[in-house]
Amino acid sequence: MTHILAIDQGTTSSRAVVFDASLAPVAQAQQEFPQSYPAPGRVEHDPEDLWATSAATARAAIERAGLAPGAIAAIGLTNQRETVVIWDRGTGRAIHPAVVWQDRRTAAACAHLRTEGHEGLVSARTGLLLDPYFSAGKIAWILDHVEGARARAERGELAFGTVDSFLIWRLTGGRVHATDATNAARTSLYDIHRGEWDAELCALFRVPMGILPQVRDCAADFGRTRADLFGREIPILGVAGDQQAAAIGQACFTPGMIKATYGTGCFALLNTGERAVASNARLLTTIAWRLDGRVSYALEGSIFIAGAVVQWLRDGVQIIRSAGETQGLAEAADPEQGVVMVPAFTGLGAPHWRPECRGAIFGLTRATGPAELARAALESVGHQTRDLWQAMRADWGAGAATVLRVDGGMAASDWTMQYLADILGAPVDRPRVTETTVRGAAWLAGMRAGLCPGMEEFAQGWALDRRFAPAMTPEERAARHDRWTRAVAAAMAF
Ligand code: G3P
Repeated sequence: MTHILAIDQGTTSSRAVVFDASLAPVAQAQQEFPQSYPAPGRVEHDPEDLWATSAATARAAIERAGLAPGAIAAIGLTNQRETVVIWDRGTGRAIHPAVVWQDRRTAAACAHLRTEGHEGLVSARTGLLLDPYFSAGKIAWILDHVEGARARAERGELAFGTVDSFLIWRLTGGRVHATDATNAARTSLYDIHRGEWDAELCALFRVPMGILPQVRDCAADFGRTRADLFGREIPILGVAGDQQAAAIGQACFTPGMIKATYGTGCFALLNTGERAVASNARLLTTIAWRLDGRVSYALEGSIFIAGAVVQWLRDGVQIIRSAGETQGLAEAADPEQGVVMVPAFTGLGAPHWRPECRGAIFGLTRATGPAELARAALESVGHQTRDLWQAMRADWGAGAATVLRVDGGMAASDWTMQYLADILGAPVDRPRVTETTVRGAAWLAGMRAGLCPGMEEFAQGWALDRRFAPAMTPEERAARHDRWTRAVAAAMAF
């Protein structure tokens, strides 16, 4: 057995990549699936789409690699986090569409818990805040809105999972109901310090504990796939939420290191080692990974809209036909116009946490065209990252990285990465392999299978593609970021 299969079930697509033992990608497959927006602020996925595209891309990647199923030593799984699936333990069928992490339907319920003074408890135990982003409220919403669901959950007939758990259930033919510590840490029900589901929080959010999965290490035995799926049973040996998998894939193993991943949203993680650091700047404290029972923690800054702003340019206002066009438009834009876009389409995440806030564009003139809008969209990614970067460095103090490691789809845009370096006033490092999420998942499984190297050797394999050095003057940087800050304040006040 010579290869690892990594599956990345993301927000807009599922991907599978086959890696060799040196963690070089050999073959891949990817499929998008439909997004459903049943009402303003609501975002759902069909769990059957999540499963079908994961299984299909996994099979296609193995086939494209020209490998017999016997060559795959293990599967690593990584996933969009927080998204909730509740299914029938008997049939394996979901009882409601998946309620996606971006979904804001529980905003009022979260606000209510906050006014009742519960945020301190939630934050102290889970490292999270009371925001509709996290799973607990979504679980309760489904149990309250699907007829008979709450009673069935109490009787033990239903199972809850983030997408990893649902896929593990399907992959193993219902033999395993488990998740890993990083995914558990995003539910608002898991005590990240004691490492267990918290009965008091489950009572607060009205989630019956019998529906929760068992929590395992990130590199652990998550069961074997049904034999008919790939022609033989393959062990699932690695699981991590996608942002944590990306931090692993970026080899951010030393406390102080920071990575930012640009997918649908942008998620920056700062490794804080064995210490769970509480944030003074409304960042999240979360589990980076748990290996051999030992937890490494992280501070996380979560931005809900990054790559999605380019999707909006393409599918919403339709001023581009493909994402690749934004770079050319941004280069052609008149920099003097100073259009500022605050892409708060699904509210603002860190460090503001304003679920009710919506997007805004400032500084429009009659000369503003697609180029200026594209430029403002890309710039918004840089400014949002800078807000996180500053918050992280304030929380962590001396010893925080002075370089940002980037990955994900948008990291391919030289223009965006240069603007990011300019606005941070710090170098931005893009690795040769920007597919760090799947690589992290593959490493977890490959290491557990005994096929891939340990942490140190893996970290040495991280290779730089390009460093973007800041070139903007401090005056311009300050003026630009000041305009951004004022635009965000105005959007929040609207
Ligand atoms: O917390 C949400 C995050 O896990 C989603 O990531 O890459 O699917 O946008 P992505």
